[in-house]
Amino acid sequence: MTEIVFPPGFVWGSATAAYQVEGAATEDGRGPSIWDTYSHTPGRTLGGETGDVAADHYHRWADDLDQLSALGLGAYRFSVSWPRVQPGGSGPANRAGVDFYSRLVDRLLELGIRPVATLYHWDLPQELEDAGGWPARDTALRFADYAATIVGALGDRVHTWTTLNEPWCSAYLGYASGVHAPGRTEPAAALAAVHHLNLAHGLASRVIRDLAPAAQLSVTLNLHVIRPATESPGDTDAARRIDALANRAFLGPMLDGVYPADLLADTAGTTDWSFVHDGDERTAAAPLDVLGVNYYSTTLVRAWDGSSPRSSADGHGRSAHSAWVGADRVEFLSQPGPHTAMGWNIEPAGLTELLLRLHREYPDLPLMITENGAAFDDVVSPDGAVHDDRRVDYLRRHVAATAEAMAAGADVRGYFVWSLLDNFEWAYGYERRFGIIRVDYQTQERTWKDSAHWYRRLTTTGHLP
Ligand code: FCB
Repeated sequence: MTEIVFPPGFVWGSATAAYQVEGAATEDGRGPSIWDTYSHTPGRTLGGETGDVAADHYHRWADDLDQLSALGLGAYRFSVSWPRVQPGGSGPANRAGVDFYSRLVDRLLELGIRPVATLYHWDLPQELEDAGGWPARDTALRFADYAATIVGALGDRVHTWTTLNEPWCSAYLGYASGVHAPGRTEPAAALAAVHHLNLAHGLASRVIRDLAPAAQLSVTLNLHVIRPATESPGDTDAARRIDALANRAFLGPMLDGVYPADLLADTAGTTDWSFVHDGDERTAAAPLDVLGVNYYSTTLVRAWDGSSPRSSADGHGRSAHSAWVGADRVEFLSQPGPHTAMGWNIEPAGLTELLLRLHREYPDLPLMITENGAAFDDVVSPDGAVHDDRRVDYLRRHVAATAEAMAAGADVRGYFVWSLLDNFEWAYGYERRFGIIRVDYQTQERTWKDSAHWYRRLTTTGHLP
């Protein structure tokens, strides 16, 4: 194999999200978010686990930033907790919350690490959900106000502002299948949420441009790599339909300024989309500096003829309610292994394919892999080490897949491992570990897994070990 070397300006980073690592759920004036409510509702998360303490990053942040530095990282992607900054989702800032992120950003800059801040990684203030949540238009307006508050305070000390993380999950898992907070199962509401997230992105983008003109502007999407089981017209159409719901429902308004006609037609039985007001799609299409791409695995679909029980292995959790609004005739098939502990198939070629699709469709838009990584059942050796060979192999193959896309022309500027630390993996609680640094939840001790040592070799040399 020829050696893979990355260009000198390529950015190596790692990512976390507020609710997954911070803990300190009720400290210093933080208000409750939908994830506090959801995780505290019996039966919602594995083992009833919550983010109350998580990796205690709210108190250990300075040590955690030292870990980033020791890893040789050039960037850190974190998210700002909306209910820490605006406890009820509107009104004046909670000074202690803003100060926390201000200190974090200053320390990153001292360490020479670029702050990459996501405004929304799923922790909607509960008061806003009580007023209707993302299906309500007002939530998008509140989001723009929140953006003004935090961007006004941190400005272009933050290198890259990301409006939303994976709005697909917020809308469909939150409001259609209910496997994420707030756990509603209302298909029409899920589509309204899709739109108000797109609108929120556009409104916040303007705020970011105004208040932090020197910062980079981005959004992070979990675009699906969808493969039809066969080339039959039925299976091909199933793939088209899922592509519309998963990918083009966001790429359309955000990058082309219009919803795809097939998406509107496919979902006409659920909603008439009258929540889209004149000018909204233009607002959503704020020009971006970089598109964040999260990638873990692929999706395999076929047309379902109704004759046998429908399989629904879409990798997004189990629910009696489908996340896929208007796609009742689509089956999601299990895919051949190997799989990660999430049950997700390992398919690095899917990442190359996705990057090249984006390069083809949006040739002038730089790309950044804002999440990629894997959960495995880590074992601590008697000497305390974690020999996570499968994670190292997963990362190595996906970094190589990135290089392959770049060699074929894709403009990829950086790569962030998910995740820096083991953390609260949403509905799966603490059972699924994604960190390259292990967290002992009894003592909060951090230990580098082999993957962290491996990543350091990559980040400090630019050569794929
Ligand atoms: C993504 C989320 C992130 C993490 C990974 C495993 O969907 O953005 O918070 O949970 O999956």
